[in-house]
Amino acid sequence: MASLTVRQLDEKLKQRLRLRAAKNGRSVEDEVRTILRSAAADAESFAGGGGPARSVPSEQPQKAAIRVLLIIGGGIAAYKSLDLIRRLQDGGARVRCVLTRAAQHFVTPLAAGALAGQRAYTDLFDSQSEFDIGHIRLARDTDLIVIAPATADLIAKMANGHADDLATAALLATDKPVLLAPAMNPHMWTAKATQRNLMQLKADGVRVIGPNAGEMAERGEAGIGRMAEPLEIAAAAIAMLHGSSALAGRRVLVTSGPTSEPLDPVRVLANRSSGKQGHAIAAAAAAAGADVVLISGPVKLADPPGVTVMPIETAQQMLAAVEKALPADVAIFAAAVADWRPRQVSANKIKKHGRPPTIALIENPDILSTIAHKKSGRPRLVIGFAAETADVIGNAKAKLKKKGCDWVLANDVSPATGIMGGDRNTVHLVTATDVESWPPQSKDDVARTLIERVALALADNKP
Ligand SMILES: Cc1cc2nc3c(=O)[nH]c(=O)nc-3n(C[C@H](O)[C@H](O)[C@H](O)COP(=O)(O)O)c2cc1C
Repeated sequence: MASLTVRQLDEKLKQRLRLRAAKNGRSVEDEVRTILRSAAADAESFAGGGGPARSVPSEQPQKAAIRVLLIIGGGIAAYKSLDLIRRLQDGGARVRCVLTRAAQHFVTPLAAGALAGQRAYTDLFDSQSEFDIGHIRLARDTDLIVIAPATADLIAKMANGHADDLATAALLATDKPVLLAPAMNPHMWTAKATQRNLMQLKADGVRVIGPNAGEMAERGEAGIGRMAEPLEIAAAAIAMLHGSSALAGRRVLVTSGPTSEPLDPVRVLANRSSGKQGHAIAAAAAAAGADVVLISGPVKLADPPGVTVMPIETAQQMLAAVEKALPADVAIFAAAVADWRPRQVSANKIKKHGRPPTIALIENPDILSTIAHKKSGRPRLVIGFAAETADVIGNAKAKLKKKGCDWVLANDVSPATGIMGGDRNTVHLVTATDVESWPPQSKDDVARTLIERVALALADNKP
């Protein structure tokens, strides 16, 4: 096949191409592709054979996949960005890559380009790149920009409006949403300058995912600084693009709050769960377009908007309400269900005379396990919470197996963490194959991240 580059065309033709591309809102490169595609279809229908007849006029732009510009910064985690390209593609995105000069010490433009299926861009002052697409068009011919890994340096440059290379120039020129996945040494992450820059970027409307807690690439270093996993980043990116429709048409069941087991007409056995996390999850699912049923124990919280709330008190009532609310695509069990209830509920107030009474307990139904082991009508994704005070991840892995659920979100609820009743949470997402340690964040952010993961899992058809 003959090879032809746009550079070989005469100036007049190039000028016409540029004007036509600008008029159609495409890069010169894409414009040439559109013209060639259209000419090939004309030739086919003229020959009367081969492919199907074209039903759209040649100037009609084809319905494009969502477009993501992935900027790869110069950090160890750059190798994970190659996997991220695939994950984004799985979510229906067409990915174009920009590598910073430092990034090219860790991964090659060839590898990124081969995975993306189109050349990767590296230089601001490369005349061919500038002619093909140009840094301004690179920034605008996209639906979303993802920066992964976002180095401390890139974060600093962005926060201060620098534009001295292709990545930062594109970031300054863009009018599209930006998702940032920081990755760096924990000391760089907690440095005042990094945190200041990050606050500025958040105020500017940049969405940040991670970094997670865990082992660093450097031996013996651990803390917060690991880049969020490619699946998490892809889920956040796809959710940003689909906005409020990521879970449209899906039914999500959420349990929340404590249960309250009566002992007599005035006394109950209860726990300290506030319901903040479960309610935040229900709200995030509703915001993503799902039809949400929230089955809640007694809490001091307002009902989340757009959610059907079924109030209950005891574990038995909660199980009955869950069964009634099925079928659902996803069931998320965030309630703190009492393991036991008093064997006898006294009809009258137990009086204080003589020795204190002995209270016999019996086991409550295990709601998570019951639903996860359902033979028919099991939700596609069953998610449990594990509130632990010791060996958080070990216990969560055991719970995942024992209960037969798909994911467990484990958190440390020791009093020192302030999680029980507090507004922040530190969770680990445990699946059959992986453990992701999410950074400390607000319960609203945990909920949003979880719902993004759920949307991606359902779209992907696998937990
Ligand atoms: C081996 C090695 C690993 C590095 N890893 C990181 C990292 O994970 N995060 C980070 O912010 N900087 C890291 N750096 C420093 C950046 O590469 C450096 O700040 C560079 O200027 C970033 O350029 P960029 O932001 O244009 O990609 C690393 C440097 C080296 C030599």
